[in-house]
Amino acid sequence: VDFSKNIIRWYNTHKRDLPWRETSDPYLVWLSEVILQQTRVEQGLPYFHRFVDAFPTVDELAAASEDEVLKHWQGLGYYSRARNLHHAAKEISSRWKGKFPSDYKDILSLKGIGTYTAAAIASFSFNLPHPVIDGNVYRLLSRYFGISSPIDSTNGRKEFSELAHRLIDLEQPAIYNQAIMEFGSLQCKPSSPDCGSCPLMHSCVAFKKGLTGSLPVKSKKMKPSDRYFNYLVILDSENILLNRRVKQDIWKNMYDFPLVESSSELNTTQLLQQDGFRDIFTADSFSFEGQPVRLKHQLTHQTIHASFFRMQSRHHDISITDSMVQEDVSRLSSYAVPRLIEKYLNFLVT
Ligand code: ADE
Repeated sequence: VDFSKNIIRWYNTHKRDLPWRETSDPYLVWLSEVILQQTRVEQGLPYFHRFVDAFPTVDELAAASEDEVLKHWQGLGYYSRARNLHHAAKEISSRWKGKFPSDYKDILSLKGIGTYTAAAIASFSFNLPHPVIDGNVYRLLSRYFGISSPIDSTNGRKEFSELAHRLIDLEQPAIYNQAIMEFGSLQCKPSSPDCGSCPLMHSCVAFKKGLTGSLPVKSKKMKPSDRYFNYLVILDSENILLNRRVKQDIWKNMYDFPLVESSSELNTTQLLQQDGFRDIFTADSFSFEGQPVRLKHQLTHQTIHASFFRMQSRHHDISITDSMVQEDVSRLSSYAVPRLIEKYLNFLVT
């Protein structure tokens, strides 16, 4: 109880002014939480504003095309967030007649909404007592209560969830939830937390035992896998060949270039010997322009080693599939592309 009261008192003087805290509109709360799932507040803010300008209501989001939605998400990464958002908006528009469901179970049933997001919407918009447990909260609780159960194990999650249900302030769940996340984010920071200025210092187990550096505990160490993407940047006068990513893989439904994936980095000679290359080029009428541009791109569980091979070729010598489009270079900006491709395109035009 002291814990909750202290957290809320701290919040009232230290909170940031954020647009989604000035509304209880569940659509805006939902949107902000989805953006903030894998994105820092400073980076997410401009996207939040642009997205709300483009799609002010859930019905307007539902009525948009997936391309438009992805285009507004471009640069944020983790695009399945945007696809799920769009899918759920259509559910709300049709099944719930545009009125956001106000029951926790109904909210949880929407596509892409898990227990965290459902609790955030239920509490911030409808003041229901469902505790939010995100990375900030796991860190804070594990340190303050000295809990070393792994936060990524089933038992650990259950333990933290039970604790969080006991702690939540039943009279003001919305403020309590904002407060505990803000406290974890600003005060109980991941590395070198400022314990000297912390109002919970005297009752914090990790502080007393010198464990702030070793809590929270994670059981799995996920090593990112390496992937090698060889992009064919095929120019035919002013036209460039784009590829829509249709397979079940990263960046689904966004655009990149015709791609040959390999198990290691390739030079031009090695590229020519790949089966995937022969699948794209049916004729021999092409030439490489200079050395490939190499860019490394880090995703959560994958490291993409990208090589961009710039080529001159007549597009009619290429086996153009349904997923490929020829486009004037000047029109590239109307396509939703992953950040990696955006980085390369900046190269290309400057
Ligand atoms: N991170 C996730 N949700 C947040 C919120 N509502 N406010 C600030 N940071 C957040």
